[in-house]
Amino acid sequence: MAQLIPVDPFDLIIFGGNGDLALRKLLPALYHRYCDKQFSEDSRIIAVGHGAMTSESYQARVKEALCATRIALDDAQFQGFSARLDYLCFDALDYDGWTALVEALSGHEAKIRAVYLATPPTLFGPVANGFKINGLITDNMRIVLEKPVGNDHASAKAINDEVGSCFPEKQIFRIDHYLGKETVQNLLALRFGNSLFEPLWRREVVDHVQITVAEDLGVDNRIDFYNGIGALRDMVQNHLLQLVCLVAMEPPSNLDDDAVRDEKLKVLRALKPINGDQVKSHTVRAQYKSGAIDGTVVPGFTEKLTGNSETETFVALKLEVDNWRWSGIPFYLRTGKRLAVKHSEIVIQFKPVPHAIFGSTNYDTIPNRLSIMLQPNEGIKLTIMAKEPGPGGFELRPVSLDLSFEETFGIHYPDSYERLLIEVLRGNPALFMRRDEIETAWQWIDGIISGWDQSRQPLESYVAGSWGPTASSMMLDRDGRGWRSGS
Ligand code: BG6
Repeated sequence: MAQLIPVDPFDLIIFGGNGDLALRKLLPALYHRYCDKQFSEDSRIIAVGHGAMTSESYQARVKEALCATRIALDDAQFQGFSARLDYLCFDALDYDGWTALVEALSGHEAKIRAVYLATPPTLFGPVANGFKINGLITDNMRIVLEKPVGNDHASAKAINDEVGSCFPEKQIFRIDHYLGKETVQNLLALRFGNSLFEPLWRREVVDHVQITVAEDLGVDNRIDFYNGIGALRDMVQNHLLQLVCLVAMEPPSNLDDDAVRDEKLKVLRALKPINGDQVKSHTVRAQYKSGAIDGTVVPGFTEKLTGNSETETFVALKLEVDNWRWSGIPFYLRTGKRLAVKHSEIVIQFKPVPHAIFGSTNYDTIPNRLSIMLQPNEGIKLTIMAKEPGPGGFELRPVSLDLSFEETFGIHYPDSYERLLIEVLRGNPALFMRRDEIETAWQWIDGIISGWDQSRQPLESYVAGSWGPTASSMMLDRDGRGWRSGS
């Protein structure tokens, strides 16, 4: 069982302390870590936001937010937690307003200091500068940038330059919460902690790879933000490409921050560009219209907007990692809002056996498949062919070797933000994205977006509650393949 070791005393300052991310994810994550006794005495959380309110009203707001996440709140624990929670109201762009923060931090220079920017990326540079101008940067400081870092390669570079002029790269933590998910980390254990899979992990044996990140939720109160970015920038540029990296990368020599990130970067650099006319055959973009999820009618994406929108809420891609190990092997990716169910899975589809020796059986010989389930049920499933028991002919049947992490290890996993916040406080950047990773990923994504613009790639539609547009199934159909879940 992993040991819970308290973190040295810290001050964690959250900009955007009143926002959705802070209330729904960060504070619940911190509350859990507090309950697990990972806060040492003298640790504080200082939330910074726009709305004027006292620390007491903010604490009440946090309590409400925790209850809304269905956390079983323990009153005594919450009292202890909220005693460490302060709220400051000021506009980060008005440097005079920073006095209150300067005062709050004065005398606490020896502690770990971490600032989490749960704000739009346009504020990353100004807030970093605010720390610099006000002399608040200590040697023991970390700055966390929430995704998206920018909107394209140029804006990401500008943000990285500005933040980089205040903090050295080793103090900048660019978060992708998928890297904190237990199963995503288990992918490393599976690949490099077993001798079984690695020899098979290559173009000679693998037919193709599928990555699905399906959500049944819509965009709700994030619609204005989401309408400005769409699924490619919101999900593929970061989460899905990070998964591609972990599946496709070469074994790092150890788990040091740069060893893993160097290998991920090589994968990003090896992505074959999809641009120009290629976007027509290699990408699908679509938007949901109204439909039903779990028997409840849900509105279409544009119904909450004034006017039309060309923003994609679903994207499917066929990409290739153009290197010695993977050349010619397609990686099919898809992600979307308002799909049939919440379901995320990586599938490694192996090639069929070269020759059928069993003659006709009631089942087709199905090629082996390794599924790594990320959510909602984390686990690993290996599908193999086995002989059906009993006398008579030699009947084969696909069966699966199934490992559910929750059942096997008997614990419920902490949310990825819990792990990542602790990694920030400990100053371990291995699970965060380096500047070159982010910028290389944007360069590749920019190629697709300009291909879409040039070729006027049509926006398909799909019914909420389905598995996406038919064009997505057709993309695989043309290659004689099909999506594993849904169709
Ligand atoms: C976020 C995206 O990064 O990830 C959201 O901005 C998305 O649009 C979310 O809903 C998905 O995260 P998870 O952990 O629920 O798969």
